[in-house]
Amino acid sequence: MDTIATTERMKQLARAAARAGRRIGLVPTMGALHEGHLSLARRARAECDLVVLSIYVNSLQFGPSEDFRAYPRDPVRDGALARGAGVDALFVPDEGEIHLDGHRTRVEVEGLQDTLCGRSRPGHFRGVTTVVAKLLAIVRPAAAYFGEKDAQQLRILRRMARDLHDDCIIVGCPIVREADGLAMSSRNVYLTPDERRAAPVLHRALRAATEAARGGEASAARLTALVRETIAGEPLARIDYVEAVDDETLEPVREVRGKAVLAVAAWFGRARLIDNVVLGC
Ligand code: PAJ
Repeated sequence: MDTIATTERMKQLARAAARAGRRIGLVPTMGALHEGHLSLARRARAECDLVVLSIYVNSLQFGPSEDFRAYPRDPVRDGALARGAGVDALFVPDEGEIHLDGHRTRVEVEGLQDTLCGRSRPGHFRGVTTVVAKLLAIVRPAAAYFGEKDAQQLRILRRMARDLHDDCIIVGCPIVREADGLAMSSRNVYLTPDERRAAPVLHRALRAATEAARGGEASAARLTALVRETIAGEPLARIDYVEAVDDETLEPVREVRGKAVLAVAAWFGRARLIDNVVLGC
């Protein structure tokens, strides 16, 4: 596995691969790798000739009072895990390699960026789309792999690629969970033992709503109320939002008829966790 620290070298490698007709798969991450990240790398390995995994903790997507400095970083472990998942090139640029001195450009996907997590994290998705647009420009992958865990991010990035006429296929991959249902996340390390025991309530609540929807309940108000009530049974959880939204536009739905995303965000101590389920598919 190659470890690449500069944009110039990354571009050279990508150009050489393209000339050789090799299909590049890109897996963008912020490191502190876990099985969720590795599932994306394995999927890219199965579908592409050259797998690039980037690790870049993108300051632009963190708010002023968020955890940019505290965000877990473990480059040695990450390298070993990436290699084990079949990654060919680990792209680990410094801040200045991605956001050039005096950079002025931002990429925004209007509307989609302002709901759900965007409401509680203003500017967050603008930071995500800006960095991912740059990574796509540097690596020029045929496909880029993202997790359904970040449902809003995935839909925003799909729309961005389409709107920018970028032919890169944005591939969504299933949520990888711990044995007790908690969605894997680099931020789970912030949980105290008690919070860790409490956190699977998010998945339990979404499962209860999925069952209700399967049983014929279509009212978004009743489904979200069921999620809220289940989470309310866990005193260590503080709900940020529970919403049922259209799978594509992310606008709130009143009735779950077509595909809809039931999404939740909640605080457990200093960890803000998110989870979701797609209904009606
Ligand atoms: P990060 O949180 O490191 O996640 C990198 C990718 O892994 C994202 O596509 C995310 O959805 C996926 N992922 C995380 N946990 C997962 C899980 N339990 N199951 C499946 N996939 C999971 O998301 C980001 O980084 C950043 O916003 C980034 C896209 C890299 C831009 O900076």
